[in-house]
Amino acid sequence: MSVAPGRLIVLEGPEGAGKTTQLRRLDAWLEQHGVPHVNVREPGGTPLGDEIRRLLLEPGRHMDPRAEALLFMASRAELMADVVAPALARGLVVLADRLFLSTYAYQIAGRGLPEGEIRQANALATRGIVPDLTLLLTIPAAAARARRERRGAPDRMEQAGHEFHARVERALAMFVSRDWQTDHPECGPIVAVDGDGGVEEVFERVLAQLAARWPDTFTALDESRS
Ligand code: TMP
Repeated sequence: MSVAPGRLIVLEGPEGAGKTTQLRRLDAWLEQHGVPHVNVREPGGTPLGDEIRRLLLEPGRHMDPRAEALLFMASRAELMADVVAPALARGLVVLADRLFLSTYAYQIAGRGLPEGEIRQANALATRGIVPDLTLLLTIPAAAARARRERRGAPDRMEQAGHEFHARVERALAMFVSRDWQTDHPECGPIVAVDGDGGVEEVFERVLAQLAARWPDTFTALDESRS
């Protein structure tokens, strides 16, 4: 197994799409195959970021949408500086459970904040780091909603209501289009992965996307089955 050059791989999707489960599965696969990597999540992933995460997700807290956006950015700036940039410089694979595409979906489309200003603030937070690949897990809205409801106690973002989540889901669907990606080069390539199905079934689709791009690191599916 060759050591991978630094690569930033992001999983995104609506709450309930199964991205955290897939990331756990991918983490185990990389571990098993000896690929040096780190796992991060947004918001959070640093001591400051974890405190900001608590503030952002605490149910019932009132927050102006601009304050919310800037808190996500503050958590991101810290994560980029402390973890992501150094890990990429060391040649590690960085697996991210959400990144700034979520800001584009939740704060720009969901909250209706001005795109130009949010993109500028985000550029400050990311210091120009562009994901090498974002896998967007898709799942029928009703299935995602059912999974969210099974989880119980919704966080502040999950409490935002049906209309808000419908706007987020429409935006996520748009991000897969070539035109949108051409207009937003800071987001890097985004591909949809069908998240409907069992954990292993979906994981094969995730791995297939990665193997298609980086065959040296993510060996062919047949070899990867353990
Ligand atoms: P989760 O990743 O554990 O599902 O929770 C994070 C929540 O925060 C989720 O509802 C998406 C939301 N979020 C934003 O609204 N903007 C962002 O920039 C990020 C990273 C997450």
